[in-house]
Amino acid sequence: MREVAVVGIGLTEFGEKWDSSFRELCVEAGAKAIEDAGMDGDQIQEMFVGNMSGGRFVLQEHIGALIADYSGLATNHIPSTRTEAACASGGLAFRQAVNTIASGSQDIVIAAGVEKMTDVSGGETTDALAGAADREWEGMYGVTFPGLYAMIAVDYMHKYGLTREQLAQVAVKNHYNGARNPIAQYRKEITVDAVMKSTLVADPLRLLDCSPVTDGAAAVILCSMEKAKEFTDCPIKVLASTQATDTISLHDRRDISTLDATIAAADRAFKMAKLEREDIDLVEVHDCFTIAELCAIEDMGFCKKGEAGKFTEEGETALGGKLPVNTSGGLKACGHPVGATGIKQVCEVVAQLRGEAGKRQIDGAEIGMTHNVGGTGATVVTNIFRRA
Ligand code: COA
Repeated sequence: MREVAVVGIGLTEFGEKWDSSFRELCVEAGAKAIEDAGMDGDQIQEMFVGNMSGGRFVLQEHIGALIADYSGLATNHIPSTRTEAACASGGLAFRQAVNTIASGSQDIVIAAGVEKMTDVSGGETTDALAGAADREWEGMYGVTFPGLYAMIAVDYMHKYGLTREQLAQVAVKNHYNGARNPIAQYRKEITVDAVMKSTLVADPLRLLDCSPVTDGAAAVILCSMEKAKEFTDCPIKVLASTQATDTISLHDRRDISTLDATIAAADRAFKMAKLEREDIDLVEVHDCFTIAELCAIEDMGFCKKGEAGKFTEEGETALGGKLPVNTSGGLKACGHPVGATGIKQVCEVVAQLRGEAGKRQIDGAEIGMTHNVGGTGATVVTNIFRRA
């Protein structure tokens, strides 16, 4: 297999983007990535677009062709494919792009992700997102995504004695980081007290425990390591890109507060990259709800089961901590346009490894990791990157 590098990144602002259409968001992110790579769009040989639910949110399907067309690449007749795995749709697009280059099939590929979620009512959004779980065994009985993660939180708190304050600390830390990210949906700091007093959504999760509903897009340009040198002095090498699955229903899992697909994907990634947990300088994890960040850092092996609350409370996941987690602000503060999130995470790690993360820069960051989840853990994609 050939070595693969990321040479360009592009992001739109995340938030309620009333003035941009679905396709405009994706094309804007792609154009920024192409500009960042210093290449011509015509050099792109293949495209993957992560999108969860264009059909529900903007009544648009056939996303691969749509984005190729509005990027001006359809007349080059490049292959363009939509990838879908709920909130891990972007992660899937990235992994497909990596494999396409690693196999020698193409030299230069763009992986993008896009979602426009705010054009429909809150109820419709919640119902569309429920499609990421098992419709017959979960959705039909009225359970929502905040409801599913609330069950995980209750189980976790019962088993490990996690306090409400420790859970709130995840949101406080991610809002602190988001306040330092110019594209974040919520660029404001919050307190533990504010989280604890915010509106109850699904007990014990409150408004400020939840990722928001977001419009946005992200894109990255990947190429073979040999080609990368034509575009940049600082290619970011992809050391591993792995994917794992688990049961789609939460109630079928052996343990509802452990994501076995995260364990499998992370173990494979560390094996593929030939690295240890201690080698990682920063990680972007899938904090769709505060409890999800704690499960992620434990299941990836960064701390023992039940200890992530204390680890977070002691500041070890903050910008100056042992393992900075979600320097972008995470899904919580940066926002969660579901199909775009997996690619946004890659953009953040690449920016950090290049030393371009501004006020949230981790000094000397050399190796970073991403973790993107579909549903309550039925699909997980992890990636490890190194500054080449
Ligand atoms: N974090 C911080 N602030 C938020 C927020 C969030 N997650 N969601 C909304 N807000 C703010 C809004 O900006 C607004 O502030 P304003 O009054 O100052 O303008 C206020 O809270 C009310 O916003 P509104 O849009 O009416 O909230 P809502 O009640 O319709 O939705 C949630 C709130 C939590 C239900 C919604 O964000 C949600 O469903 N999140 C989960 C999304 C999800 O499940 N994603 C998939 C995960 S796998």
